Amino acid sequence: MSRTIIVSNRLPTKVHRTAEGLDFQPSEGGLATGLGSIYRSDNNVWVGWPGLFVDDPTEQHTVTERLRANSMAPVFLTEDEIRDYYEGFSNSTLWPTFHYFTQFATYNDEHWQAYVAVNEKFCAAVLALAGPEDTIWVQDYQLLLLPEMLRRARPQATIGFFLHIPFPSYELLRVLPWGADLVRGMLGADLIGFHTYGYMRHFLSAVSRMLGLSIQNGQIETPTRTVLVDAFPMGIDYQRYELAAASPVVEEHQRAYREALRDVRVVLSIDRLDYTKGIAQRLLAFEQLLLRHPEWREQVSLLMVVVPSRDQVAHYAALKEEIDELVGRINAQYRTISWNPIQYFYRSFPFDELVSLYRLADVALVTPIRDGMNLVAKEFIASKTHQRGVLILSERAGAAVELSDALLINPTNTNQLVEALNEALLMPEDEQITRMANMQDLVRQYDVFAWTRLFMDRLAHSKEKQHTMT
Ligand code: UDP
Ligand code: G6P
Repeated sequence: MSRTIIVSNRLPTKVHRTAEGLDFQPSEGGLATGLGSIYRSDNNVWVGWPGLFVDDPTEQHTVTERLRANSMAPVFLTEDEIRDYYEGFSNSTLWPTFHYFTQFATYNDEHWQAYVAVNEKFCAAVLALAGPEDTIWVQDYQLLLLPEMLRRARPQATIGFFLHIPFPSYELLRVLPWGADLVRGMLGADLIGFHTYGYMRHFLSAVSRMLGLSIQNGQIETPTRTVLVDAFPMGIDYQRYELAAASPVVEEHQRAYREALRDVRVVLSIDRLDYTKGIAQRLLAFEQLLLRHPEWREQVSLLMVVVPSRDQVAHYAALKEEIDELVGRINAQYRTISWNPIQYFYRSFPFDELVSLYRLADVALVTPIRDGMNLVAKEFIASKTHQRGVLILSERAGAAVELSDALLINPTNTNQLVEALNEALLMPEDEQITRMANMQDLVRQYDVFAWTRLFMDRLAHSKEKQHTMT
């Protein structure tokens, strides 16, 4: 039976080394949480890095066996590869460039060489696993060269590619010395998917301007093959959140949180620590709310979960300090004996507690400067079975294309953010319900299963078309 081999840099399970030995935990990040619900079906396998440097063969064996039992196959990275491919080219060159933070991007040829080498390593791992009938589905910016490498080794293979982050305008891509190689790498796939039409249009423009290929109706004609390109906005496992929302354990957490917070209104913010998420700007806006609308003092708290991420990369470490300082300053200025303006957590939360936080929140404040999609916004909506609550969402998150019933804001416009917060806190209940119900209809219908089905059907269709043409 044919299977789907999902390939991404990070596996949905990450391994930690603790005093008691190796510990296995769910990974954070939209790719891992989103696809986490689908890969276990039908004998599928997920190939990727378990998030830890493991060189001892016995430990490698333990990790491999444990992951194999859960339909995963690890690709182990050396310390040099983690530094040059993961922290280097992936997260200090591609991530900032694709999110329009070119001032943070580095251009280092050694990092590029490591990126090529690790993409080859992933290629070998996939080829060792995949049979000729299997579908290979490559994910995200860490593996842009992999589709072409796989295509060279297996010209007939069925290969899909999905980009989970924005694809930037050609003007940003051309700044990269390796822009054309990256685009060529992606074209090894039969179908290339993006979260929005905007990202897709940027990609098509890069293809025609950098490679001079012709494009018709979202189809790219390469000298040997036709490549399909389309937008597939990623969804979440809606039912999982909806069911959890009604579970006794979530109710119990929510009750305990509410008791601790008494009757203070809650504005919730949840992200990985990342400069693309607009966390510092959000804190400044909350400070301005307390300054300009003193009536909210002691009435509302910002509950802010910041999940540690990529802390070996300089700009991430610097942002951590900036956030610590801002939180300290605002809390010191406004707190009272019985009220803390900002409840700040620098750690990740287990699923049940996350759902309890979503349910507890009066307002979700999701204000990235750039974000491919943003699943936190959708998870908040799915958890709100009682339909009370307001989503404030950055117009520069991919999710904003679908969620037009959110209060859409420009994340760098502090005035607009302050007024959106005030409006959200004052919004009448019937308006909250109307907006939430509309967004729930959409997020429920286009869940992650529908997303996978649409992508896979389109991939199979493109393959059939290729066969009939040859
Ligand atoms: N998340 C998590 N644990 C936490 C906080 C967040 O697993 O303590 C998850 C969250 O549920 C969401 C993902 O991390 O599914 C973040 O995805 P999003 O698309 O919002 O942003 P990304 O991190 O992919 O940039
Ligand atoms: C985003 C990226 C994913 C990545 C995740 C977490 O969602 O699109 O590819 O896995 O962030 O980042 P990390 O570097 O920890 O894998």
